[in-house]
Amino acid sequence: MNAYLDNAATTPVAPEVVEAMIPVLRDTFGNPSSSHSFGRTAKAFVETSRRSIAKHLNCSPAEIFFTSGGTEADNMALLSAVIQGGIRHIITSEIEHHAVGHTAQSIHKRYGIRVSFVNLDAGGNVDMEHLEKLLNSEDKTLVSLMHANNEIATLLPLKNVSALCRKYDALFHSDTVQTIGHYPFDLTDLDIDYVTCAAHKLHGPKGVGFLYINKNTKAEALIHGGAQERGFRAGTENIHGIVGLARAMDLAHEDMKGHQDYIQGLKSYMIDQLREHFDNIDFHGEIVPEKSLYTVLNVCFPETPKASMLLFTLDLKGIAVSGGSACNSGANVGSHVLTGINADMSRPNVRFSFSRYTTKEEIDYALEQVKAVFETTLA
Ligand SMILES: Cc1ncc(COP(=O)(O)O)c(C=O)c1O
Repeated sequence: MNAYLDNAATTPVAPEVVEAMIPVLRDTFGNPSSSHSFGRTAKAFVETSRRSIAKHLNCSPAEIFFTSGGTEADNMALLSAVIQGGIRHIITSEIEHHAVGHTAQSIHKRYGIRVSFVNLDAGGNVDMEHLEKLLNSEDKTLVSLMHANNEIATLLPLKNVSALCRKYDALFHSDTVQTIGHYPFDLTDLDIDYVTCAAHKLHGPKGVGFLYINKNTKAEALIHGGAQERGFRAGTENIHGIVGLARAMDLAHEDMKGHQDYIQGLKSYMIDQLREHFDNIDFHGEIVPEKSLYTVLNVCFPETPKASMLLFTLDLKGIAVSGGSACNSGANVGSHVLTGINADMSRPNVRFSFSRYTTKEEIDYALEQVKAVFETTLA
């Protein structure tokens, strides 16, 4: 048996997405920039997809810029804020994805922009008072804080942060790569400058995503060349990828609440089972549903001499998970997210992450194999 429990890394492509993509890949080979009928057909696929995505998010199609995925979208957001938004200060956190963290570092080096880190509690929650203190500065500021942490699941109260940013006239970017297609978004109501999406986190294909830029916020091109994406993202469009992304968004919105309830049920079951079978079990980040991304569970297991073998052993049994910051080997570089919340790194951690395709049998199998590792350890 296999168990794929690494859906925060990437999700399996939905069969309906594959079905939507194949005819486009096979038949729609025109270049969307060409003015003949082949080009116009291709262009129509791109624009229909853009309109349908915008509808799901209650924004204008003109606010959606297709990219190669989440990393490019995050880079473009931060660069746009510096070059077009005239910001001199970035407020972010120590637990952002590297697509934001490393980009902020590079912007600091290249443009001399000040970077501040907001205080976090042990669960990875943003200290809102500290955020307000940091915002209260002379410099034009960009706040870049992720909606859900991909390692520890902690959710950001987007509306509260957005209101605070507006109060201090700051730009607000949120890396929503783990949450678009998993929670309903009303971008007009949210009043945010930039959000980002990667299709492969919601059962779409890899190598495609988008950056939403609020119509009142200016964009800056990261990739220069042709006039695609209204001159802000050059390069011939990934037509079949864009169609796949739009189809994945449709599927995600068909029964979002149903998917959420189902996946949350699996996560709660796993929490209960782990508590029942281990004496000393903890969880990194938040686990209460209102504060925690329902697709991710980061487990802190009891110390064991076999810690360094845990992921390897699970892999041998056909179980895909991620993490493994136990530093018994002494060679561990650890996770910057766990370091960012001062987590106990002496204990092995494993991130289990779920999707609507995950079954209870997969969870049971993973639990059985994890228990076996610890039982052999004790023997
Ligand atoms: C929170 C977050 N941001 C950004 C990314 C990068 O997205 P992509 O893989 O599409 O470049 C990921 C992917 O792991 C992610 O989890």
